[in-house]
Amino acid sequence: MRKIGILGGGHVGATAAFVAASRDLGEVAIFDIMEGMPAGKALDMTQTAPVLGYDGLVTGSHDPAILAGSEVVIVAAGFPRKPGMGRMDLLKKNVEIAEAAGTIVKTHAPDAVVICVTNPLDVMTWVVQQTSGFEPARVMGMAGMLDSARFSAFITMELGCSPKDVRAMVLGGHGDSMVPLARFSTVNGVPITELIPADKIEAMVDRTRKGGAEIVKLLGTGSAYYAPGSCAVLMAEAVLGDTGRILPCSTWADGHYGLGEVYVGLPIQIGAGGVTKIVDLDLTDDELAALAKSAGGVAKGIAEVKALLA
Ligand code: 2OP
Repeated sequence: MRKIGILGGGHVGATAAFVAASRDLGEVAIFDIMEGMPAGKALDMTQTAPVLGYDGLVTGSHDPAILAGSEVVIVAAGFPRKPGMGRMDLLKKNVEIAEAAGTIVKTHAPDAVVICVTNPLDVMTWVVQQTSGFEPARVMGMAGMLDSARFSAFITMELGCSPKDVRAMVLGGHGDSMVPLARFSTVNGVPITELIPADKIEAMVDRTRKGGAEIVKLLGTGSAYYAPGSCAVLMAEAVLGDTGRILPCSTWADGHYGLGEVYVGLPIQIGAGGVTKIVDLDLTDDELAALAKSAGGVAKGIAEVKALLA
Protein backbone atom coordinates (compact mmCIF):
# COMPACT_ATOMS: atom_id res chain seq x y z
CA MET A 1 0.00 0.00 0.00
CA ARG A 2 1.15 3.55 -0.75
CA LYS A 3 2.04 5.66 2.28
CA ILE A 4 1.38 9.30 3.00
CA GLY A 5 2.93 11.01 6.03
CA ILE A 6 1.38 13.91 7.92
CA LEU A 7 3.82 15.97 9.96
CA GLY A 8 1.76 17.85 12.54
CA GLY A 9 -1.54 16.47 13.84
CA GLY A 10 -3.40 19.74 14.50
CA HIS A 11 -6.48 20.90 12.63
CA VAL A 12 -4.85 21.07 9.16
CA GLY A 13 -2.87 17.84 9.61
CA ALA A 14 -5.82 15.88 11.00
CA THR A 15 -8.08 17.14 8.22
CA ALA A 16 -5.48 16.14 5.63
CA ALA A 17 -5.14 12.70 7.23
CA PHE A 18 -8.90 12.19 7.21
CA VAL A 19 -9.33 13.36 3.61
CA ALA A 20 -6.37 11.21 2.46
CA ALA A 21 -7.76 8.15 4.23
CA SER A 22 -11.29 8.65 2.97
CA ARG A 23 -10.04 9.08 -0.61
CA ASP A 24 -8.14 5.79 -0.26
CA LEU A 25 -4.74 7.29 -0.95
CA GLY A 26 -3.10 4.52 1.05
CA GLU A 27 -1.72 4.14 4.56
CA VAL A 28 -1.72 7.43 6.44
CA ALA A 29 0.82 8.08 9.23
CA ILE A 30 0.41 11.08 11.52
CA PHE A 31 3.40 12.38 13.49
CA ASP A 32 3.06 15.05 16.16
CA ILE A 33 5.33 15.95 19.08
CA MET A 34 2.37 15.60 21.44
CA GLU A 35 2.15 12.22 23.08
CA GLY A 36 -1.12 10.35 22.64
CA MET A 37 -2.93 12.87 20.42
CA PRO A 38 -1.73 11.57 17.01
CA ALA A 39 -2.41 7.95 18.02
CA GLY A 40 -5.85 8.95 19.33
CA LYS A 41 -6.82 10.78 16.15
CA ALA A 42 -5.47 7.90 14.04
CA LEU A 43 -7.50 5.35 15.98
CA ASP A 44 -10.62 7.48 15.58
CA MET A 45 -10.03 7.63 11.80
CA THR A 46 -9.34 3.88 11.64
CA GLN A 47 -12.67 3.33 13.37
CA THR A 48 -14.36 5.55 10.77
CA ALA A 49 -13.16 3.26 7.95
CA PRO A 50 -15.92 0.67 8.44
CA VAL A 51 -18.48 3.50 8.52
CA LEU A 52 -17.40 5.29 5.35
CA GLY A 53 -15.89 2.25 3.70
CA TYR A 54 -12.29 3.19 3.09
CA ASP A 55 -9.38 0.76 3.16
CA GLY A 56 -6.41 2.75 4.43
CA LEU A 57 -4.90 2.13 7.81
CA VAL A 58 -4.29 5.31 9.83
CA THR A 59 -1.52 5.32 12.41
CA GLY A 60 -0.20 8.04 14.69
CA SER A 61 2.76 8.57 16.99
CA HIS A 62 4.98 11.16 18.67
CA ASP A 63 7.93 9.23 17.20
CA PRO A 64 8.85 10.68 13.78
CA ALA A 65 10.03 7.22 12.68
CA ILE A 66 6.35 6.57 11.92
CA LEU A 67 6.87 8.60 8.74
CA ALA A 68 9.37 6.06 7.35
CA GLY A 69 8.47 4.89 3.87
CA SER A 70 6.18 7.83 3.11
CA GLU A 71 6.10 8.74 -0.57
CA VAL A 72 4.59 12.11 0.24
CA VAL A 73 4.83 14.08 3.48
CA ILE A 74 2.46 16.96 4.20
CA VAL A 75 4.08 19.43 6.62
CA ALA A 76 1.21 20.89 8.64
CA ALA A 77 3.05 21.76 11.86
CA GLY A 78 3.14 25.32 13.13
CA PHE A 79 1.30 28.06 14.95
CA PRO A 80 -1.80 29.50 13.26
CA ARG A 81 -2.69 33.18 13.16
CA LYS A 82 -4.75 34.99 15.77
CA PRO A 83 -7.24 37.71 14.76
CA GLY A 84 -5.38 40.83 13.59
CA MET A 85 -2.16 38.96 12.77
CA GLY A 86 -0.68 38.84 9.25
CA ARG A 87 0.87 35.58 8.03
CA MET A 88 4.35 37.16 8.15
CA ASP A 89 3.83 37.76 11.90
CA LEU A 90 4.25 33.99 12.29
CA LEU A 91 7.70 33.94 10.72
CA LYS A 92 9.77 33.95 13.94
CA LYS A 93 7.43 31.50 15.70
CA ASN A 94 7.33 28.97 12.88
CA VAL A 95 10.84 29.05 11.47
CA GLU A 96 12.21 26.59 14.04
CA ILE A 97 9.27 24.26 13.43
CA ALA A 98 9.86 24.35 9.67
CA GLU A 99 13.56 23.64 10.23
CA ALA A 100 12.72 20.67 12.45
CA ALA A 101 10.25 19.44 9.81
CA GLY A 102 12.95 19.60 7.12
CA THR A 103 15.33 17.61 9.29
CA ILE A 104 12.66 15.02 10.11
CA VAL A 105 11.74 14.38 6.46
CA LYS A 106 15.42 14.16 5.52
CA THR A 107 16.00 11.59 8.26
CA HIS A 108 12.83 9.53 8.13
CA ALA A 109 11.37 9.97 4.64
CA PRO A 110 14.40 10.75 2.47
CA ASP A 111 12.65 9.79 -0.77
CA ALA A 112 9.42 11.68 -0.16
CA VAL A 113 7.91 14.59 -2.04
CA VAL A 114 7.10 17.28 0.53
CA ILE A 115 4.05 19.54 0.55
CA CYS A 116 4.37 22.37 3.04
CA VAL A 117 1.36 24.13 4.55
CA THR A 118 3.05 26.04 7.41
CA ASN A 119 2.78 29.84 7.34
CA PRO A 120 4.12 32.20 6.16
CA LEU A 121 3.74 29.61 3.44
CA ASP A 122 6.23 30.50 0.74
CA VAL A 123 9.01 31.36 3.19
CA MET A 124 8.47 28.23 5.28
CA THR A 125 8.47 26.06 2.13
CA TRP A 126 11.90 27.50 1.38
CA VAL A 127 13.04 26.72 4.95
CA VAL A 128 11.86 23.10 4.64
CA GLN A 129 13.59 22.77 1.26
CA GLN A 130 16.85 24.21 2.59
CA THR A 131 16.84 22.13 5.76
CA SER A 132 15.89 18.89 4.04
CA GLY A 133 18.47 19.43 1.30
CA PHE A 134 15.94 18.00 -1.18
CA GLU A 135 16.05 19.33 -4.72
CA PRO A 136 13.46 22.14 -5.07
CA ALA A 137 11.26 20.07 -7.42
CA ARG A 138 10.54 17.74 -4.50
CA VAL A 139 9.39 20.50 -2.11
CA MET A 140 6.20 22.40 -2.90
CA GLY A 141 3.96 24.69 -0.91
CA MET A 142 0.18 24.50 -0.72
CA ALA A 143 -1.45 27.87 -1.08
CA GLY A 144 -2.35 28.67 -4.69
CA MET A 145 -4.91 25.87 -4.65
CA LEU A 146 -6.45 27.24 -1.47
CA ASP A 147 -6.53 30.82 -2.73
CA SER A 148 -7.97 29.59 -6.04
CA ALA A 149 -10.57 27.51 -4.17
CA ARG A 150 -11.63 30.63 -2.28
CA PHE A 151 -11.88 32.65 -5.48
CA SER A 152 -13.88 29.75 -7.03
CA ALA A 153 -16.24 29.69 -4.05
CA PHE A 154 -16.91 33.42 -4.37
CA ILE A 155 -17.57 32.99 -8.13
CA THR A 156 -19.97 30.14 -7.31
CA MET A 157 -21.75 32.28 -4.71
CA GLU A 158 -22.04 35.20 -7.14
CA LEU A 159 -23.38 33.17 -10.09
CA GLY A 160 -25.34 30.55 -8.17
CA CYS A 161 -23.62 27.93 -10.34
CA SER A 162 -22.14 24.57 -9.38
CA PRO A 163 -18.64 24.71 -7.87
CA LYS A 164 -17.87 21.70 -10.08
CA ASP A 165 -17.88 23.97 -13.12
CA VAL A 166 -15.66 26.71 -11.69
CA ARG A 167 -11.88 26.88 -12.17
CA ALA A 168 -10.02 29.87 -10.76
CA MET A 169 -6.35 30.79 -10.92
CA VAL A 170 -4.53 32.68 -8.17
CA LEU A 171 -0.76 33.11 -8.43
CA GLY A 172 1.84 34.84 -6.26
CA GLY A 173 2.78 34.52 -2.62
CA HIS A 174 0.21 33.39 -0.05
CA GLY A 175 -0.28 36.89 1.34
CA ASP A 176 -2.26 40.08 0.88
CA SER A 177 -0.54 40.78 -2.44
CA MET A 178 -1.48 37.44 -4.04
CA VAL A 179 -2.52 37.73 -7.68
CA PRO A 180 -6.01 36.41 -8.57
CA LEU A 181 -6.22 36.22 -12.37
CA ALA A 182 -9.79 36.83 -13.50
CA ARG A 183 -9.10 36.21 -17.18
CA PHE A 184 -7.77 32.71 -16.39
CA SER A 185 -10.75 31.96 -14.15
CA THR A 186 -13.64 30.25 -15.90
CA VAL A 187 -17.01 28.60 -15.58
CA ASN A 188 -16.83 25.58 -17.84
CA GLY A 189 -14.34 27.35 -20.06
CA VAL A 190 -16.14 30.73 -20.12
CA PRO A 191 -13.93 33.44 -18.59
CA ILE A 192 -15.66 35.10 -15.62
CA THR A 193 -14.95 38.46 -17.26
CA GLU A 194 -17.77 37.48 -19.68
CA LEU A 195 -20.16 36.64 -16.87
CA ILE A 196 -19.59 39.05 -13.99
CA PRO A 197 -19.28 42.87 -14.02
CA ALA A 198 -15.78 44.24 -13.39
CA ASP A 199 -16.64 45.92 -10.07
CA LYS A 200 -18.01 42.67 -8.68
CA ILE A 201 -14.91 40.77 -9.84
CA GLU A 202 -12.75 43.39 -8.10
CA ALA A 203 -14.71 42.86 -4.86
CA MET A 204 -14.21 39.09 -5.14
CA VAL A 205 -10.50 39.55 -5.80
CA ASP A 206 -10.25 41.66 -2.65
CA ARG A 207 -12.21 39.11 -0.60
CA THR A 208 -9.95 36.33 -1.91
CA ARG A 209 -6.84 38.27 -0.84
CA LYS A 210 -8.32 38.61 2.64
CA GLY A 211 -9.91 35.13 2.62
CA GLY A 212 -7.70 33.62 5.32
CA ALA A 213 -8.11 36.62 7.65
CA GLU A 214 -11.91 36.52 7.21
CA ILE A 215 -11.95 32.98 8.63
CA VAL A 216 -9.41 33.75 11.39
CA LYS A 217 -11.68 36.60 12.54
CA LEU A 218 -14.79 34.42 12.51
CA LEU A 219 -13.12 31.54 14.33
CA GLY A 220 -11.66 33.83 16.98
CA THR A 221 -8.87 31.37 17.54
CA GLY A 222 -6.90 29.43 14.91
CA SER A 223 -7.24 29.56 11.16
CA ALA A 224 -8.91 27.65 8.33
CA TYR A 225 -8.28 23.93 7.99
CA TYR A 226 -10.91 22.11 5.93
CA ALA A 227 -9.92 23.70 2.61
CA PRO A 228 -6.17 23.89 3.42
CA GLY A 229 -6.02 20.22 4.48
CA SER A 230 -8.06 19.10 1.47
CA CYS A 231 -5.94 21.09 -1.00
CA ALA A 232 -2.72 19.54 0.36
CA VAL A 233 -4.20 16.06 -0.15
CA LEU A 234 -5.22 16.84 -3.74
CA MET A 235 -1.60 17.81 -4.42
CA ALA A 236 -0.44 14.55 -2.78
CA GLU A 237 -2.90 12.63 -4.94
CA ALA A 238 -1.36 14.19 -8.07
CA VAL A 239 2.08 13.02 -6.91
CA LEU A 240 1.00 9.50 -5.98
CA GLY A 241 -0.98 9.04 -9.19
CA ASP A 242 1.65 10.75 -11.35
CA THR A 243 -1.31 12.50 -12.93
CA GLY A 244 0.30 15.55 -14.48
CA ARG A 245 -2.33 17.89 -13.02
CA ILE A 246 -1.61 21.59 -13.54
CA LEU A 247 -2.25 23.44 -10.28
CA PRO A 248 -1.14 26.76 -8.79
CA CYS A 249 1.34 25.90 -6.02
CA SER A 250 4.29 27.50 -4.31
CA THR A 251 7.37 26.48 -6.23
CA TRP A 252 11.00 27.49 -6.72
CA ALA A 253 10.63 30.16 -9.42
CA ASP A 254 14.22 29.99 -10.60
CA GLY A 255 13.96 32.57 -13.37
CA HIS A 256 10.42 31.82 -14.57
CA TYR A 257 8.18 34.89 -14.95
CA GLY A 258 11.29 37.02 -14.52
CA LEU A 259 11.46 36.01 -10.87
CA GLY A 260 14.65 35.06 -9.13
CA GLU A 261 15.51 32.61 -6.39
CA VAL A 262 12.27 32.59 -4.47
CA TYR A 263 9.36 30.29 -3.63
CA VAL A 264 6.12 31.70 -4.99
CA GLY A 265 2.78 30.49 -6.35
CA LEU A 266 2.98 29.61 -10.05
CA PRO A 267 1.11 27.11 -12.26
CA ILE A 268 3.02 23.86 -12.06
CA GLN A 269 2.58 20.40 -13.45
CA ILE A 270 2.74 17.71 -10.77
CA GLY A 271 3.98 14.17 -11.26
CA ALA A 272 5.65 11.37 -9.34
CA GLY A 273 8.76 13.37 -8.51
CA GLY A 274 6.93 16.55 -7.51
CA VAL A 275 7.15 19.53 -9.86
CA THR A 276 7.70 18.24 -13.39
CA LYS A 277 7.22 21.60 -15.10
CA ILE A 278 6.51 25.27 -14.44
CA VAL A 279 3.87 26.42 -16.90
CA ASP A 280 4.78 29.80 -18.38
CA LEU A 281 1.64 31.84 -19.06
CA ASP A 282 1.72 34.91 -21.24
CA LEU A 283 0.94 37.51 -18.57
CA THR A 284 0.30 41.20 -19.17
CA ASP A 285 2.76 43.79 -17.88
CA ASP A 286 0.37 44.63 -15.02
CA GLU A 287 -0.01 40.99 -14.03
CA LEU A 288 3.77 40.46 -14.16
CA ALA A 289 4.29 43.57 -12.02
CA ALA A 290 1.75 42.30 -9.45
CA LEU A 291 3.50 38.92 -9.39
CA ALA A 292 6.91 40.56 -8.97
CA LYS A 293 5.58 42.66 -6.08
CA SER A 294 4.14 39.58 -4.37
CA ALA A 295 7.38 37.62 -4.88
CA GLY A 296 9.29 40.61 -3.49
CA GLY A 297 7.37 40.22 -0.22
CA VAL A 298 8.42 36.56 -0.02
CA ALA A 299 12.05 37.46 -0.82
CA LYS A 300 11.97 39.92 2.10
CA GLY A 301 10.73 37.12 4.37
CA ILE A 302 13.52 34.81 3.18
CA ALA A 303 16.08 37.55 3.88
CA GLU A 304 14.60 37.93 7.37
CA VAL A 305 15.00 34.20 8.02
CA LYS A 306 18.59 34.30 6.74
CA ALA A 307 19.31 37.16 9.17
CA LEU A 308 17.64 35.25 12.04
CA LEU A 309 19.72 32.15 11.36
CA ALA A 310 22.99 33.99 10.71
C1 2OP B 1 -5.31 30.56 5.24
O1 2OP B 1 -5.21 31.35 4.33
C2 2OP B 1 -4.14 29.50 7.14
O2 2OP B 1 -2.98 30.74 5.52
C3 2OP B 1 -4.06 29.92 5.75
O3 2OP B 1 -6.40 30.23 5.73
